[in-house]
Amino acid sequence: MCGIVGYIGERKVIPVLMEGLRRLEYRGYDSAGVVFFRKGALEVVKTKGRILDLEEKLFEKCYVDAAAPGLGHTRWATHGEPSDKNAHPHFDCTRSLAVVHNGIIENYYQLKSELLEKGHFFSSATDTEVIAHLIEEFLKRGCAPFEALCKAAKRLKGSYALAVVFKKDPEALFVARNQSPVVIGLGEGENFVASDIPALLPFTREVIFLEDGEVAILTKEKVSIFNPEGKEVIREPVKIEWDLASAEKGGYPHFMLKEIYEQPEAIQHTSLGRINQQNGEVDFSADGLSEDFFKGIKKLFIVACGTSFHAGLVGKYLIEEKVGIPVEVDLASEFRYRNPLINENTLFIAISQSGETADTLASLREAKKRGAKVLSICNVVGSTIARESDVVLYTQAGPEISVASTKAFTTQVCMLLLLSFYMQKRVAKREPDKNELEALLSLPGILKKEMSLWHEKIKEISKKWYFAEDFLYLGRNILFPIALEGALKIKEIAYTHAEGYAAGEMKHGPIALIEEKVPTVVLAAKETGIIYEKTLSNAEEVASRRGPLIAVVSKGAEEFYKLTQDVIEVPLTVKVLLPILYVIPLQLFAYEIAALRGCDIDKPRNLAKSVTVE
Ligand code: F6R
Repeated sequence: MCGIVGYIGERKVIPVLMEGLRRLEYRGYDSAGVVFFRKGALEVVKTKGRILDLEEKLFEKCYVDAAAPGLGHTRWATHGEPSDKNAHPHFDCTRSLAVVHNGIIENYYQLKSELLEKGHFFSSATDTEVIAHLIEEFLKRGCAPFEALCKAAKRLKGSYALAVVFKKDPEALFVARNQSPVVIGLGEGENFVASDIPALLPFTREVIFLEDGEVAILTKEKVSIFNPEGKEVIREPVKIEWDLASAEKGGYPHFMLKEIYEQPEAIQHTSLGRINQQNGEVDFSADGLSEDFFKGIKKLFIVACGTSFHAGLVGKYLIEEKVGIPVEVDLASEFRYRNPLINENTLFIAISQSGETADTLASLREAKKRGAKVLSICNVVGSTIARESDVVLYTQAGPEISVASTKAFTTQVCMLLLLSFYMQKRVAKREPDKNELEALLSLPGILKKEMSLWHEKIKEISKKWYFAEDFLYLGRNILFPIALEGALKIKEIAYTHAEGYAAGEMKHGPIALIEEKVPTVVLAAKETGIIYEKTLSNAEEVASRRGPLIAVVSKGAEEFYKLTQDVIEVPLTVKVLLPILYVIPLQLFAYEIAALRGCDIDKPRNLAKSVTVE
């Protein structure tokens, strides 16, 4: 999705903007641009393509005298194709101001017609450009820049994070937010703005999150925030603990691989602080969660998108089994437009790595409106979903830069497991199994040992199969969501068609796909007892139709060696940890296949890290 960065201060503005934009590249984009002051005028440079292309353009023009304030933007096209013209920043008719924008202006068509009638002329097909002209319209009526921005913002419907610079006010930059994140970075004699924290990390860790409807003015010395009624708001800054190194590759060829290998620590960080060392019980008191929160809860909804949805499916198995409360899991894009049966006895759980996903946020608001209590599982501190929830359980995965989610997924599953233990004790009044808790605590150590062994074997298997155009992923029970996740991962980063299926469902359709060129990845764990036997039978059905098999199975699952030599062995553990253990080989497999196919692994085509539009 789009990214914004802005700076006001004494530093050379272009390097600051370019550094910020590079840190936002992971969000996915198709064009980029900057605006800055030069000889008292606003100068825009923008281009379709990569940040590198923008840098080349800037280099050619040799803007040594560029001055702050300045804004940078990476665009991910929604209205109008990716092109130089549609790239941000956008000017008004007289180049008196320049705007960058994330989000979608839903009433842009109506606004554009109005503005055209008033004689404004447009240079792009974007919804963003209407904002520039709308502000211009208010300037023409005698408003000062801040007032013009506030008035224009009131006319906008939809989502926006806006940053604006005015030719006649080179001492300030202006920002506004509605349903799209804006974070302000504080410095000494300088201030920053961005749509996402990584853009600020090279410069500051003191940040303030803007709330919906707020507008802010940044000068070198001061940040002033105003609520929709125009009243100044005083807000304490938050300290971001992520360091720069954790947002960099650290010697790995890709963020994705680094993030896969970070999973043992991420799981440790997520679980350790929530397990009381004295009594071994799960304790969420530091997260502000207590037994009372669950009083009267008769039903749970877990709502999320993509990979987070798959974590939710795992959560259903865990919570229903341990707590005995019915759990419905829904895709946020579906949930928000149906008529879910929700009341004050419902607990709504939103799962979102970014905490900004538009559909998940809209579902949360709908559930709240209908009286549900809201708990969210998020990775980004201060994100919108986190702020709008009654309780937030933060996964401690650290920044996830690669577009494909890996460590966010396993920490979400880890958090759902902790929550199921907690609810088992506090809601169902049953003692959690101590062996399971101990197994969770020793999981990071096991992963550290196993991951490189899996990786070696997976490199071998990937060389055999990287050219395949279709894969089938099969799993049952708690490993069914993992089959879905494995298929999603290879689709998104290797552009290979893959289907995840419940193994028992194969006979009802996908078995027709089985042939020598279509490998089937089968997940089977002895810990699942009879389900293991059933999955083995499904694998035999594939093999007997000459379908090649890649088996991710328990150590010592001799039966599978009779069917295939492509076996990845996973150590025996407790059933509740299977999703975490079995998904990692699938992440590595997708990674290796994508690498062999020469794909842009961290920034797969058409995808964005944070999906802030529907
Ligand atoms: C897949 C992936 C996406 C996200 C989905 C939800 O690797 O990253 O499917 O899981 O867009 O994003 P969040 O969790 O930020 O709400």
